[in-house]
Amino acid sequence: MADDEKESQDQPNASDDRRPVAYSDGSEAWLLRFFRDRRVNEYELYPKDAPWAVRYHLSPRRKTLLSWLDFGPTGRILELGAGCGALTAHLTSLPHAVTAVEGSPDRAAVIKARLPDAANLDVVTANAVGLSYNGCFDVVTLVGVLEYAGAFVDGPEPYHKLLTEARRYLAPSGCLVLAIENRMGHKYLAGLPEDHTGRPYDGLNGYPGNPGVRTFDRPTLAAMLARAGFAATSWHFPSPDYKMPDSVLSERALGLPGFAALPLLELPTADPGGRAAPAFTERAFMRSALAGGVAGHFMNSFLVLAAPSPDAPLLAANAATLAVAVNADSCPPHFQTMTRFVDDGAGGVTVTRRNLHGLPPAVFAAGRQSVKPSESYRLGYASYLELVLDAVEDGDPVGAGRLVTEWMELTASRARPAMPGAAEAFVAFCRAQLGRELYTGSMAGPWLPGSLLDAHPGNVLRHPATGDVRFIDLEWQLACPMPLQLLLDRGVNLVGQKLAAHARQPGEAGPAALPPAMDRLLARHPLSRGCDPDSLARFTHWLFAAVTNGSLDHRLPTAG
Ligand SMILES: C[S@@+](CC[C@H](N)C(=O)[O-])C[C@H]1O[C@@H](n2cnc3c(N)ncnc32)[C@H](O)[C@@H]1O
Repeated sequence: MADDEKESQDQPNASDDRRPVAYSDGSEAWLLRFFRDRRVNEYELYPKDAPWAVRYHLSPRRKTLLSWLDFGPTGRILELGAGCGALTAHLTSLPHAVTAVEGSPDRAAVIKARLPDAANLDVVTANAVGLSYNGCFDVVTLVGVLEYAGAFVDGPEPYHKLLTEARRYLAPSGCLVLAIENRMGHKYLAGLPEDHTGRPYDGLNGYPGNPGVRTFDRPTLAAMLARAGFAATSWHFPSPDYKMPDSVLSERALGLPGFAALPLLELPTADPGGRAAPAFTERAFMRSALAGGVAGHFMNSFLVLAAPSPDAPLLAANAATLAVAVNADSCPPHFQTMTRFVDDGAGGVTVTRRNLHGLPPAVFAAGRQSVKPSESYRLGYASYLELVLDAVEDGDPVGAGRLVTEWMELTASRARPAMPGAAEAFVAFCRAQLGRELYTGSMAGPWLPGSLLDAHPGNVLRHPATGDVRFIDLEWQLACPMPLQLLLDRGVNLVGQKLAAHARQPGEAGPAALPPAMDRLLARHPLSRGCDPDSLARFTHWLFAAVTNGSLDHRLPTAG
């Protein structure tokens, strides 16, 4: 069948809403060629140097918005405004029948080229309103689409119309999955450009000049959903936003006593255009918002599950998930993980972790990735890293320095003055993988097991009242012992990087120094004496390359 003929058969019986959707971000021709030329593994790394418009469509992070959701064993999904198929690719990996409606013919063509083998996919080129789908679907998605109703939906109330149409397409027990930026998101308050117009403060100023696009704050969106007939809603917050989320937190997670939401937020928010830096410390702002119980009003994006009836199976199936964190963007599929924080129904939280694709652990001589399938979440504990950031935000750099030295001493207490064969094994590892010997001044000891490589201040928790300490998330482990100094340097460097990131002011390029009082305290500590920045830089370079390339046996070229 000719493509044109197929296209016309794809058209549902439309009412008088035949308004075309002249939407383009300039990437369509590039993407069409890209997908026609090759079969793409949706979770392989995309060309990192690609322009934002292309990265937006190809990054595996796009799918994190939906990949954690339990859509049930079967059913019909309608994706309204499917764009270039980034999320269609996830939906068609489910056992469901998927109808992808896209108003731009160029974009619909990209979806078809992207997913030529998806037998459960029907691509329809049409406006999202006026379709003859009364009560047909178990799930309707509107991801990044509602904000454009003013431009592409006719009538006096285009946003209301799009929502009521989505409601009309749903079965009585169905559920809408809606994602959109928050007009009052912390990044917008901090002066980062409005995502659609590119201008700072446009949304907060009420979209001057009526650019044909608009987002909403939380109370407004809640009222719009209620008015359109969605009686039950469940609110989630993708971070840093719904387009490229690394994590999705539920409303309950934001308010659960003892649950540390801040480490799951990607702060400060990066501007993909690389233009703007936040005008204030978003972490400090969100910390206050969390403490005051109003964080949900200021998260950058919303993911709302909205149903006509509270009995919708999708709401029930996802009610226990408090938060998810997915690593889908910095390593190949066999290293990609999904961490889920689940309400255990007995007042506790369980953390489950798995390879995102169910792949078995890969085996390497130099080390391993350790993925612990399940453990108890330590409610009320905080990592040394978060405690240090809190102390600096609270104007107590000496207290922050003391926390770092406490972590250093704790780490040193796990070290042994000598381990038989440790120096030989570490030297052999460095020669093979790193291309030169590192930490030559630390060979006399003390030594730590290589399994503690990730025991940096972000992964060591302390209970503020009892002082009880727990190690979590020791993901990357070396097969050989390592000098204590390597972990000390890694930890202090991480603290410095995080402090610098949070303290950065607009226009400030380089890393900020540690607060002077903290710096002095750390420099005086005996465990700082063997610090070896050159060795740390080379090791950090290797670990990054090894994880990105998918092999802990990765070799750096020999260095002098
Ligand atoms: C920002 S993109 C999001 C695409 C996709 N949902 C995603 O997340 O990758 C918005 C898409 O919705 C489409 N769109 C917007 N309004 C529409 C309407 N009323 N009918 C059909 N498509 C629409 C646009 O053509 C565009 O492809």
